[in-house]
Amino acid sequence: MLNTIKTIKEKKLFLLRMNEVINTLKKENIELKKLNAIELFGGTGKTDSIISNHFKSFEIWEIDDEVKDELNKNIGNAKIVFCDSIKRLESTEKLSKFDFIILDNPMSVFGERNCEHFDIIKNIGKLIDDEAILVFLVNKKPFFYNKLRTKNELWKKRRKEFYGDVDITNLSTEFLMNFYKELFLNIDYDTIFSKSISRHKPHLDYFLFKIKKKVKIKKLIQNQIDWISLFPLLTRKID
Ligand SMILES: C[S@@+](CC[C@H](N)C(=O)[O-])C[C@H]1O[C@@H](n2cnc3c(N)ncnc32)[C@H](O)[C@@H]1O
Repeated sequence: MLNTIKTIKEKKLFLLRMNEVINTLKKENIELKKLNAIELFGGTGKTDSIISNHFKSFEIWEIDDEVKDELNKNIGNAKIVFCDSIKRLESTEKLSKFDFIILDNPMSVFGERNCEHFDIIKNIGKLIDDEAILVFLVNKKPFFYNKLRTKNELWKKRRKEFYGDVDITNLSTEFLMNFYKELFLNIDYDTIFSKSISRHKPHLDYFLFKIKKKVKIKKLIQNQIDWISLFPLLTRKID
């Protein structure tokens, strides 16, 4: 009985961690009511229902249409799309753009090979106009239950492929912060600010990144040339 109460309390606590995401953004003076938001792993929407009302709009993508009723009940004000988010991002070029993107991604390996947020984050730029806030779950120190041995071997392999030759059973926040900054730079985004918010110590954190499209040097130089050639005209005295 005591254990059940403890589990229920812990579950509620995880949900409430989402409030910390909102508080962090408010401290950064982000006006949430101006932002269009999307969740790419909707589930039953329990966690998302805590934050969805803060935004101008909220869209949800989820693969499993069996959760339809529960999702509608938990988060009726959202636009809901049933699709494979990973495939949709991979195969569609023109998609609506969002200012806040949350990936409440499953842990371990799901489907044949997909794993955590690894298969989706490389295409995240397709949902961003110039800048966006991203929130995704990072597993710093996974449990590898013995009974899921085969699946866990694949999970470990996928973590190694993604994070590289490091101890993937115990990743530090510092390493991860630098890793994601580098990853975003590689897909042409600078990090404006970032923060990790503990969801379940010592395993799971929400990683929050505000990213902005890098200014292309070529474009910058072209703009300067345009200004230089306009200069005589702009400074010309009119008689
Ligand atoms: C951790 S749950 C999400 C919890 C949810 N955001 C909430 O507010 O309670 C992960 C969800 O991702 C969904 N999912 C897994 N693979 C997916 C995919 N490729 N595309 C869309 N949804 C997927 C699963 O069906 C599951 O419902």
